[in-house]
Amino acid sequence: MRKYENLTKVRENLSPQRAYYIPYDTAEKALKGDKNSSKYYKLLNGEWGFAYFERDIDVPEKITDWGKITVPSCWQSKGYDTPYYTNVNYPYPVNAPFVPDDNPCGVYAREFTVSKEEKKRNGFIVFEGVSSYFEVFINGKYVGSSEGSHLQSEFNIAKFLVEGENTITVKVVKWSAGSYLEDQDFFRFNGIFRDVYLLYRAKNNIGDIEITATTKEITVKGNLEFDVYDNGEKLEEKGKVKNPILWNAEKPYLYTVIVSNKDEFIPFKVGMREIEISDKGEFKINQKPIKLRGVNHHDTHPTKGWYLSDEDLEKDIKLMKYLNINCVRTSHYPKTPKFYELCDELGIYVVDETDIEIHGYCTRNSGWQYQMYNEEWPCQNAEWKDEFVSRCERMVERDKNHPCIIMWSLGNESGYGANHDAMIEYIRSRKLGVPVHFEGANLIEDKCDVDIRSKMYVDVSSLKDHAAVKDNRPFFLCEFSHSMGNGPGDVYDYFEEFYKYDNLIGGCIWEWADHTAIKNGVQCYGGDFGEQTDDGNFCADGMVFANRELKAGSMEVRAAYQGINTTLIGDVLTIYNRFDFTNLKEYTLNLEVVVDGKLVKKEEHIFDIAPHESLSYTLDLSCLPKECSLGAFLNVSLVGTSEIAMVQHVLEAERAKEEFIPEKLVYEKDNEKIYIKGENYSYTFNTHYGNFEKIVVDDKVLLDELIKLTVWRAPTDNDRRIKFKWGIFEDNLSAQNFNMLFSKVYSCDVLEKEIVVVGSLAGVARSPFMKQTLTFKIDKNGKILVNLKATIGEDIVYLPRLGFEFKIPKTAESFSYFGRGEMENYLDLCHHTKVGYYSSTAKKEYVPYIMPQEHGNHSSVRELKIGGLTFKGDFEFNVSNFTSEMLTHAMHTNELIEDKNTIVRVDYKVSGIGSNSCGPELINEYRVNEKTVDFEFTIDVNGKN
Ligand code: GAL
Ligand code: MG
Repeated sequence: MRKYENLTKVRENLSPQRAYYIPYDTAEKALKGDKNSSKYYKLLNGEWGFAYFERDIDVPEKITDWGKITVPSCWQSKGYDTPYYTNVNYPYPVNAPFVPDDNPCGVYAREFTVSKEEKKRNGFIVFEGVSSYFEVFINGKYVGSSEGSHLQSEFNIAKFLVEGENTITVKVVKWSAGSYLEDQDFFRFNGIFRDVYLLYRAKNNIGDIEITATTKEITVKGNLEFDVYDNGEKLEEKGKVKNPILWNAEKPYLYTVIVSNKDEFIPFKVGMREIEISDKGEFKINQKPIKLRGVNHHDTHPTKGWYLSDEDLEKDIKLMKYLNINCVRTSHYPKTPKFYELCDELGIYVVDETDIEIHGYCTRNSGWQYQMYNEEWPCQNAEWKDEFVSRCERMVERDKNHPCIIMWSLGNESGYGANHDAMIEYIRSRKLGVPVHFEGANLIEDKCDVDIRSKMYVDVSSLKDHAAVKDNRPFFLCEFSHSMGNGPGDVYDYFEEFYKYDNLIGGCIWEWADHTAIKNGVQCYGGDFGEQTDDGNFCADGMVFANRELKAGSMEVRAAYQGINTTLIGDVLTIYNRFDFTNLKEYTLNLEVVVDGKLVKKEEHIFDIAPHESLSYTLDLSCLPKECSLGAFLNVSLVGTSEIAMVQHVLEAERAKEEFIPEKLVYEKDNEKIYIKGENYSYTFNTHYGNFEKIVVDDKVLLDELIKLTVWRAPTDNDRRIKFKWGIFEDNLSAQNFNMLFSKVYSCDVLEKEIVVVGSLAGVARSPFMKQTLTFKIDKNGKILVNLKATIGEDIVYLPRLGFEFKIPKTAESFSYFGRGEMENYLDLCHHTKVGYYSSTAKKEYVPYIMPQEHGNHSSVRELKIGGLTFKGDFEFNVSNFTSEMLTHAMHTNELIEDKNTIVRVDYKVSGIGSNSCGPELINEYRVNEKTVDFEFTIDVNGKN
């Protein structure tokens, strides 16, 4: 047995876990808190020597051939080894605690100087994150070892240091016993991927520091000397804060505590807050029930892997605040300390989760099986108890002083066993006032001592049942709204439910950012790196892209999480304040009445509405005309320094119906086509295929290919299950084969004033799923009226979409529309948009989802002007440079080839998006599920655009 396989030997000479802090040499410096100014702190980040070995047994006594590497980094991001993405399956046999015989090893080395003064002090070295097991040597002498990739390891190195030049060597192996506890769903990376630094401490230094900050006072455990500062001013009576300003995520007020023994000055930012769970199962901060508008955050970066710099983290958290997020679950391991400092300061509630996931135990015998209290599982095996409890202890002790932490979480997807009970017991014994969460508790129906009931991916309709359970613990969705690819589409519906029940305290979206790794300039995922087990693009499931650019799903989250909700009944607007601690009077509420895209009235209000309260306001709508053409809307927005919330309501104003007077059809014909000629236009209608195939206006070709009635869309990641009922992929038995569509024309009658086409649509090898009658009329200006009446078979699966596809010349790719914009939107993913006038181009409509898929739809559209054609009606549309076939088959963005035409869809309806990539099936009301369809729109060729 190798040392790193021996659970009793994996951590040697580790200092006991203490609270995270940086000691300073003066109170002034401590108060400022720039750790680089501390004489006692020396960051060892930077260039290190590096030698990589395929097998750890090949590491020689003396390495002569050194390369270079930057610390922190993952060695796979620096050209050694390759990234490996696997979700549940372990990347090696499940034979704990043993790992493969050939275990890669990276050896790191660098020099540093120790001054005379430093030598007199006690030197410590701190590693914030190393994957997986490592051994530390100073000046060639073994110091100790550690593991627990995302946890802190500190060693006392005083006795190894010499005045002058010193060498540190760190041997890191890829796998260790601990790797069995790190089977999270992510790219597997290795190396020293977080900060490494030295601390020169007093000989008799202050060890652990525990601060308690209630809503009344701030105290430090033990007999330690401390001062409390408010805004740089020392408080006279330490501890007792007069008129304290409490901490919450909306108003994150912090005091500074400096603990000192006159040699070291140790600052902490402290927030005064108390957490309580009420009898009703509410989650209360400072006596106020709150909702957690959360997200799961993994440390992921397309070129840096697991390493996120302080700036990267700050960017993430600021972006979260912009998206109205107030909570992060640190899925599924603790973050680097800077993360919690930022959450304290910027205001984010944190569910701090320790570095444990053993999901691959479910699949170790092939198939899928959770077994609770089962000896074969490490969570039940006594030999693993210390490994479990210490991972919990190392998180709790390191992070305990952060006001942002509102739950401790025991890890993820690890079954349930006695070692979980032991972890809970540990946390209970610490009496820190922070509730315990573990998603695995639901496997034993929450019959353990957790404070929160939690689940993942339950469907919206069952939330009410969870709310009704007779159990006064809150219910939390630790994961929901799986944001893979185009999505999530259902986050709004979840939150509407959460707000209805006191004990539904919200949840965390899965997940923050796409995990990708760049190869040859392309964003890649599982399977692109020759993995033996991989889960394809299941890692690209973020609500923001890997580079943190926003997508429609990001903005949909922003809308679902926003601080107001409004309803409009008649002329009464009710504004509900969804904030937990903010009065709406801190913002301006703008009301705009917009008719046919024109602003007709604007009001600005400052409404005094306390958190969770509402106010009704009667609008004066005398400005509304009796009739309009495109529609009238009330746009409500909440504005501070910028807009933070927006809702649009449809106002009651009759939309005048444009009269359509069909003309007698004048045409020539051959045995396949009829040629209709007007003043400045000519149309070719194909009677064999039952639709127009050419439109020429003023000698300009506006349409040169047959218009098709189709139902296919390139499956989104959220269609990854339903697509097997929709189209032919691996098996040819289960689907309606919508992607192999045959259009049949039974009859095409060219009558005096209309053309009537009776036909059907069927997938190859299937009976027709739809029978339709298409009627076409033309008025005296050449305007075409298209009417589709269809019946869809009773047992037919809901359609991806239903509508017409036009291929128009590429020169016509820029367009304008009146509908929902400007980002793409779908029936269930549209709360981030409002109906209005917008312009765009086919190129701008493209959304670079990691695996190409359906995108770029616009719903609630009344008008579209493109390439000389004006479409009017009530429809959805899509303009793209790519065919749905191209988008269906491309696996990476670089495989996409633009079509020679621009592809325009004018759709009756497009199915919503949902989050079925991991979550429940698409909510019924967002499916194209109707059995009869009546759809009408006009195409005007003489409108300007
Ligand atoms: C959950 C799991 C996450 C992630 C997600 C799918 O079951 O907790 O870690 O794997 O599924 O993306
Ligand atoms: Mg998992």
